[in-house]
Amino acid sequence: MSRTKTIRKKTSKTAKMVVKKSIKKATKKTIRKNTRKKAPQQIKKEPFVLQPLRGMKDILPQEQPYWEQVRRVTEKLAREYGFSRIDIPIMEFSNLFVRNIGEGTDIVEKEMYAFTTKGKNKVALRPEFTAGICRSFIQNGMHILAKPVKLFSTGPVYRYDRPQKGRYREHHQVNYDVFGEQDPILDAQIIQIASRTVQDLGIKSIQIQVNSIGCPTCRKDYRELLINYLESKKSKLCQDCKRRLKTNPLRVLDCKEDKCAQVSASAPQSISHLCEDCHTHFKTLLEYLDELDLSYIINPQLVRGLDYYTKTVFEIWSGSEEGKKLSLGGGGRYDKLIESMGGHEMPAIGFAIGMERIVEEMKRVQAKSYSPPRPKVFLAQLGNLAKKKSLKLFAELGKNGILIAESFGRGSLKSQLKVANKLKVSFTLILGQKESLDETVIVKNMATGVQETVSMNKLVSIIKKKLKTDNVVVYHHNK
Ligand code: HAM
Repeated sequence: MSRTKTIRKKTSKTAKMVVKKSIKKATKKTIRKNTRKKAPQQIKKEPFVLQPLRGMKDILPQEQPYWEQVRRVTEKLAREYGFSRIDIPIMEFSNLFVRNIGEGTDIVEKEMYAFTTKGKNKVALRPEFTAGICRSFIQNGMHILAKPVKLFSTGPVYRYDRPQKGRYREHHQVNYDVFGEQDPILDAQIIQIASRTVQDLGIKSIQIQVNSIGCPTCRKDYRELLINYLESKKSKLCQDCKRRLKTNPLRVLDCKEDKCAQVSASAPQSISHLCEDCHTHFKTLLEYLDELDLSYIINPQLVRGLDYYTKTVFEIWSGSEEGKKLSLGGGGRYDKLIESMGGHEMPAIGFAIGMERIVEEMKRVQAKSYSPPRPKVFLAQLGNLAKKKSLKLFAELGKNGILIAESFGRGSLKSQLKVANKLKVSFTLILGQKESLDETVIVKNMATGVQETVSMNKLVSIIKKKLKTDNVVVYHHNK
């Protein structure tokens, strides 16, 4: 190697080291600076409140039999009418709701739980199911499925409303949506499912309210007519409705303020201004409802609180005086929503029931709630070895469909038998030290007090026989 080459190499080596050192120095400086910046933050002490957020509540174990009954009845009906379950996220981009439920609606304007995430996304907790289901329908290309596509969902939804009886900030809905058919027979079938849901849950006295708000074509003229009328009565409207007059005049019609209701009572009615197609659709729907013997009232003020509806809208109310304050469920047709979201032309109709309101009404009318199967056999253990074996035996009986009660934390046989008596079981299995060694179990008939010792490996079949096949409580892990 020539001298010049060696010098150049050495110089570049030194230069590299200098650069490395200065980088190290700079990095150290930055780290020090950053550490200084991120000085331990003072954790602000928030008061610790032992309660859920306003408008939200626990559904405690003692309430669950009602909820379970609602889940069972609605799932059974969904299966019967050919619905498939769909689960969608609780949170979506806010725009999905703003654009599709409608900017002028109370749900979007006042009630959305909307916020910006750490990643700067504008998101919202779902205030209803339909917009999210349509998003999923388009995104997953469900338009190619055989029609009608029937989708069923249940879960919590969030509306930041003023909490009061039957109105919560977190409530639960059972939601049914059908895509791909515009025939009014689907409208009738959806109303049939809605009324069956409520009636099968023991709420016999109901009122079905229906209306048609037309399609975008006939609604345009009707809207003009309504605005003219409402303008002439503007001074009699509440502040909110004065504003709605510009943003969403149809919503004035279902304002709950007395003075607005008086104005609405004489307002032009949408059903008198339907185009021929919408008129025939509504007339045919009513004929189907008559055929089904479903009594209904036409409520010209019923417009619903979401902008996506076209033609049929309906609500289910309790028929009783007390129950007349809140709707149990509601829905309607939304033939243009999928298309307006960028999907294919896809007529659709659906409805949702509010689970809290249904449960409250079930309690009020003393409707039947779900009663879970009760164990008819109790497993008692005595001594260390028996205690060790008891967990395995418990699982063995359970796997064979025999529901067992136990009180493994207790040591004395007397206290365990006390629990068995309280539970009114038919048989108690006693596993002591001797039985554990002999691989046997004592079976005590709780009614007669008679005891017999049986071999452990015959226990399942003996107990099944004793309980008689039809009395065996078979439970399913996935329920
Ligand atoms: P919605 O009428 O806004 O319709 O809600 C459906 C049901 O949810 C109501 O009838 C009521 O029982 C219950 N509900 C609404 N808000 C509350 C609340 N704050 N607290 C307790 N229960 C409440 C919809 O949500 C539409 N997405 C239904 C639909 C499905 N339309 C077509 N497909």
